[in-house]
Amino acid sequence: MKKISVFLLSLAMVQCIKAQEKNTITAAMNHVKLEFSLNEGTPHYAVYYDTKTVIKNSAMGFILTDNAPLDKDFTVISTQKKTVDETWKPVWGEVSSIRNHYEEITIHLKQSATARLLDIIFRVFEDGVGFRYSFPKQPGLKYFIINNELTEFAMAGDHKTFWIPGDYDTNEYAYTTSKISEIDNLQVVANATDIAVRTAPDRYAVQTPLMMKSKDGLYINIHEAALSNYPAMQLHTDNAALKYTASLVPDAIGNKAYLHAPFKTPWRTIIISDKATDILSSKIILNLNEPSKISNTSWIKPMKFLGVWWEMQTGKSTWSYADNADTLNAKSQLIANGRHGANTANVKRYIDFAAKNGIQGVLVEGWNTGWEDWFGNWKEHVFSFVTPYPDFDLKEITRYAKLKGVKMIMHNETSGSATDYERQLDTAYRFMNKFGYTAVKTGYVGKIIPRGEHHDGQWMVNHYLRVAQKAADHHITIDVHEPERPTGQQRTWPNWMASEAGRGNEYNAFSNGNQPEHETIMPFTRLMGGPMDYTPGIFKIKGYSSVPGRQVHTTLAKQLALYITMYSPLQMAADLPENYEARPDAFQFIKDVAVNWDDTRVLEAEPGAYITIARKAKAASNWFIGAITNQDSRDTTLPLSFLEGGKKYTATIYADAANADWKNNPEAYQIKKITVTSATKLNLKLAPGGGTAISIKPVK
Ligand code: NOJ
Ligand code: CA
Repeated sequence: MKKISVFLLSLAMVQCIKAQEKNTITAAMNHVKLEFSLNEGTPHYAVYYDTKTVIKNSAMGFILTDNAPLDKDFTVISTQKKTVDETWKPVWGEVSSIRNHYEEITIHLKQSATARLLDIIFRVFEDGVGFRYSFPKQPGLKYFIINNELTEFAMAGDHKTFWIPGDYDTNEYAYTTSKISEIDNLQVVANATDIAVRTAPDRYAVQTPLMMKSKDGLYINIHEAALSNYPAMQLHTDNAALKYTASLVPDAIGNKAYLHAPFKTPWRTIIISDKATDILSSKIILNLNEPSKISNTSWIKPMKFLGVWWEMQTGKSTWSYADNADTLNAKSQLIANGRHGANTANVKRYIDFAAKNGIQGVLVEGWNTGWEDWFGNWKEHVFSFVTPYPDFDLKEITRYAKLKGVKMIMHNETSGSATDYERQLDTAYRFMNKFGYTAVKTGYVGKIIPRGEHHDGQWMVNHYLRVAQKAADHHITIDVHEPERPTGQQRTWPNWMASEAGRGNEYNAFSNGNQPEHETIMPFTRLMGGPMDYTPGIFKIKGYSSVPGRQVHTTLAKQLALYITMYSPLQMAADLPENYEARPDAFQFIKDVAVNWDDTRVLEAEPGAYITIARKAKAASNWFIGAITNQDSRDTTLPLSFLEGGKKYTATIYADAANADWKNNPEAYQIKKITVTSATKLNLKLAPGGGTAISIKPVK
């Protein structure tokens, strides 16, 4: 991480309080302009993109529990401005180096009657704005409780919006596309019976990252960055005024955050461009997070992995060893159901397949005791994280994986009992170190314990960070299922490599699934905050389930393209080995595709419609391209001008067959090899619900 330059443009300037009341304070960077003002003592901000209004004058402030509100009666006591232009290198990521270029204004406010201080810090980037509140150390405000954050986002039009309900416990909804004025989650929540725990008391609340498109062609994304010791911010919609207001996830007794000054809130982010591709390339959220807190990061390695997993998701085998926790044999042991997936022979089969195909890791779910009665009863102690089932020979599996050069990935499902997990954490991670597990997938299916807390509240936000930190102490990387959605914290904790926190491919296994548009929306919403363990790579698109009509809602070629369009440094090859063995030519793409990148070019994108991304593999000259479409077929031409000039490459193109479509003929694909250069323009034809994946290697 190297600072190139930091210019302090101007130092603190004390302003005339009376004059300031009427003045606006501004900062700008290229197209983006921010204005701050006080309206009768209430802080307000507005954001513009050239002449277009992005955020109309919007109020800021807080209601406190047991303390006077911090919402009006403010004066500006001073402001500071500076410009920063630096670059830094992520430990892993979509690009090898990131520019962080912004203008910052800090506005120091004082509430006249109470003499309490509040600072607001704005950073204006070329592609948007971030702002946060800072509570300075002061005699009049030491320990305090946030009852409500009053931050508003007043939109300038009735934009097309891609949203999921603002639910305190889940992000696993399918997206709805509607105007702001039409946002109402009541039916969406009621119909989402495939989601285990739903808590959405406000029918007008939506989750962030929230993606919008204005009629005059602006793309606007609202989210947050660096969420820590604070609840997740959802947004309450005022349908008539076209205005969102921050809606913080409450704790068990309705408070939002317990704070101790000095304290800085997470950043609120507004990413803006007239090009949808710029939204996907924005680095604002990463830039607003702190640099890595892990100094030696050499042990943190992106990888692909297989899992004893899809077979349970599709009902072919079970996580549990027995069907019943209460029916025991004469020796008081569980009675095996004969369908347990995590048995030694089956695990070895996956290890063999991984070793043969150069897939680095194997995840095994259902290896440990507790799965007979694992969620739904709000039990505090469910799982042991160190006790294998009798048919999972831990020592032998450890020996065998080592022999074959495969890394075993641990699974710690907590069923929402965070207290029990914290009690076992030291033991669990020492156990992983002892048996050579360097990565863990965690999970939080079920109602949270401490009872009354929510997945997205302050207590759990702190829990996920405690776990990430503890894992880092043990040199363990983590992939968290059902946490709060990411906010760029992977910059600070690069061992927190992926999260689910969204509706993954697995919904195609156990529910009506994800519609063909789903993967064209997710990068604009859930993935804005960080990598997703989406689990791509399903080859057997139909016929895996006993439920009639159940299928994956993409073509096979689109499943390959998702390795590029759904960014993650941990990518699962999610299907069963036998389904890959049946199609070795298509599996070659999964074997070849990189998971860490030196460069990324978002070539074309439109939320809800299509995305095409090219990425250059880390420390190599190979490029990979993923192109996906929604339910509509798509013809497109891709100039390969990003390739090195004068060089010849072989492109292997994994495309939908001419007669493919996601519904009736999803598994039909064709593979072509051609020679390309930087002058080549590739014509692609994507089937309805289809995609194209391309691997490009220099000719030797
Ligand atoms: C939900 C997770 O998303 C899924 O991947 C996992 O298999 C189950 N929980 C069981 O832990
Ligand atoms: Ca899940």
